[in-house]
Formats: sequence, structure tokens, C-alpha cells
Amino acid sequence: MDMAQRETWTSRVGFIFAAVGSAVGLGNIWSFPFQTASNGGAAFLVVYLLAVFLIGFPTMLIEFVIGRRSKQNAVSAFSELGYGNWTFAGVIGVFASFITLSFYSVVGGWVLNYIVGSVTGGYLGDASTFFGSVSSGTVAVAAHAVFMAITIAIVAGGVADGIERATKFMIPAILVLLAGLAVWGSTLSGASAGYAYYLSPDFGVIATNFTSIVPSAMGQAFFTLSLGFGVMVAYASYLGRDDSLPGDSAIIVVLNTIVALLAGFAVFPILAATDALTGSTGAGTAFVALAGAFGQLPAGRIIGFVFFVVLLFAALSSSISLLEAPASYVVDSYDTERWKVAVGVGVVAFLLGIVPAYGYVGLFNDFVFNILLPIAVLFIALFAGWIYGGEAVDELGRGTSLGRGAMTAWLWWVRVVVPIVVAYTLWLGVTNFYAGLVNGAYF
Ligand code: PFF
Repeated sequence: MDMAQRETWTSRVGFIFAAVGSAVGLGNIWSFPFQTASNGGAAFLVVYLLAVFLIGFPTMLIEFVIGRRSKQNAVSAFSELGYGNWTFAGVIGVFASFITLSFYSVVGGWVLNYIVGSVTGGYLGDASTFFGSVSSGTVAVAAHAVFMAITIAIVAGGVADGIERATKFMIPAILVLLAGLAVWGSTLSGASAGYAYYLSPDFGVIATNFTSIVPSAMGQAFFTLSLGFGVMVAYASYLGRDDSLPGDSAIIVVLNTIVALLAGFAVFPILAATDALTGSTGAGTAFVALAGAFGQLPAGRIIGFVFFVVLLFAALSSSISLLEAPASYVVDSYDTERWKVAVGVGVVAFLLGIVPAYGYVGLFNDFVFNILLPIAVLFIALFAGWIYGGEAVDELGRGTSLGRGAMTAWLWWVRVVVPIVVAYTLWLGVTNFYAGLVNGAYF
């Protein structure tokens, strides 16, 4: 597409909403509380927060710098900047978005089924049977199709009319509804036991489970901040020159963290009230445990309805960004109409998603968390730190009042600390994923 025609956000706030919309998703409200529950509660929370602020935040700045400087999607960005042989780093990210979109939409379909189940009372009897009936097979494929169709429709509408308008409505709705759920949770009888597990760290747990907590917390941090997907590169490419990238990133990271923490405040009392605190692991248990709890609690069905609607909004505002990353590549590279690209890419992702819709969500999820994301982040950090270096600092400096010292500190952090930590995480992630494959955890 001709540069002059390239779309832009209508305002800084529009960009921030869209980026927060991408970040806030199933990862915050579904994955975060359950990863925390199954990895020792507050011990996991501590490692996760360190991962978000010490590794995620500086990495977001890298993606913003590359996107705004190149005004290109993650694949074309590197050659635009003059480093075409790093294009593979962008390709890995776009590939990760595409794989993630395929299974994310399947889980989005589960959420649709749970909204219906709240209306019909379908999950009130036996929560595991209900999950079994909607989570795989033709019902799951049909709901996955509906979810993907909604995602395509929004992305086809364009950056300003589709993405910006949809997220400006959804983000405030998510915050208000989650806060309401957290207040409701505080009235439950198990609330204090839930908070204790969530908020008082047992550092012994970190020490004994170090090699499993670190890759989970780092994968969760990248996933929740939408890093390593090329999405933040694509979103920043629609940005004007005079925004403060550190300022915008700080707002995005903090808002995203608030939503995750709020989700924890809603979910932990519910789990504690129904004695489901520590038994929760894996993709399905989250849905089973919560729906089981909604079935037992006063007004649970209404609360369940609200909860799953929040989850749907969060999932949609993220899935549109997952489709946007590959779609922006095609729109930039070939002179094709946006809506055609959105439909084409969405349909192919739908077809791939039929595999996870038959019981392989965990496999897809862990492959992305443990392997693809650390690889993508490792390469962009090496690129920004060692290859692009000075120019990256230059771009970071535009529109910000940050001093030279802080920016140099960022550069060295990205050069040394981020690659070492991420390489170590990748090593652990590969080992754990391989062990899962061999033990039959996925098949
Ligand atoms: N950040 C989203 C979540 O936490 O659910 C997941 C995600 C969305 C990742 C969009 C990447 C992305 F491009």
C-alpha cells in the first residue's frame, strides 16, 4: 500500500485502547488466575510481576520502536529499516499470531457456549459433562466458526472504524464488570482463604518449583502483553511521530496488570468458596471449576452470565489484533482490499483451528507459550540491542522527555539482561514441552 494512504489511529487514546484491547484477553481473565492457582498462588504472582515489568515492559518498547520507525508490519519492518536478513524474526512473530488465532478462537467459542449455558442453565448440573460437550467436536467447531466470523467482521471494518471503535467500548465495560465481580467475590464465605492463597507468597514454593514457574510466568507475561507476535509492531506502525513510547507502554502494561489482578480478585474467592483452589490446572479445569462454582453460589447463574460476557469482550478485543498482524502484512505487501484479506486469513486460521477444536488446545497453547514466544522475543531483543542499537535509542527518544541516561540503560538492558533471561526461559520451556510430549500430556 502506498505510504500516503496508510491508515493511522485517530488519536493517541485510540492507539492505547487498541493496544490495551490486544493485551487484555483470555490471558488475563482465564489463563492468569489459573496459572497462578496451579503454580502455587502468590509465589507465581511474584515471579509473574517481575517478568511483566522487568522483561515485558522493555520488550514492548522494542516492538514500538520497530513499528513506529518502519511504519510497516512485523515482516516488512526489518527490510524497511535496512536489515532485510532479520525478516525471519518478524516471520516467527506473525506465525505465532496465526497459530494463536487458530486456538484462541476455539476458546472464544467455548466462551460463547458458556454464555448460552448461563442462559439455559446448561452447566448448572454437572459442570464437567457440560465442558466435555462443548469443548471439542462439532459443537466446538461451530462456535469457533461464529467467534472467527465476528473477529473477521471487526478487522474488515479497518483500523479506526473497526478496531478502535470496538475496543473503546469493550475495555471500559471489562473494567467495570470485573470490578463488580471482585466486589461480589469479597462477600463470599471463602474470600479470605482465597485472598491468602493469592496474595501471601511462600518463597519456598518458588525455590522448589523454579524450573516450572519461570517458563510459565515468562510465557504468561509475553502472551498477556501480546509480545513476540508482531502485533505491537503492527499497531505502533499506525502511530504518529510525537507520542511518548515509554509513556504509552507504561499505561498499557499497568492497565493490563490491573485487569489480571482484578480477575484474580474475582476468581480466587469463588474458587475458595467451592474448595476448588488448588485442584485447578489446565485449559479445561478453569471452565469446569468456575462453572461448577457458579452452579453452587447464590445468583451464580447471573454472575456467570456477566463473567462470560466479560470474557467474550476481552477475547474479541484480542483476537482482532491476532488477525490484524498477519492481515496487515498482506495488506501492506499486496495491493489487496482489507476486507478480502481479513476474510482470507481468518478462514485459513479457522481451518487450522479445527485441530485444537478436537481436543488439542493445550498442545497449541503450550507450543506458543514455551517455544514460539521466547524465540521471537529473543531475536527481536538481539536485533534491537546489538544491530539496531543507536537508531533504536534515537526512535525511543522521539516524543519523550526521558533523559539520555535512561535510554542508554534501556539499551544495555535489552542487550544483555533480556536475552540471557529469555534464552534461559526458552531452554526450560523446550525441556518442559518435550517432557509433556513424551509423557503423553497432549495426546
Ligand atoms: N494478550 C492476549 C491475552 O492475554 O489474552 C493474547 C494475545 C492477543 C496475544 C493478541 C497476542 C496477540 F497478538
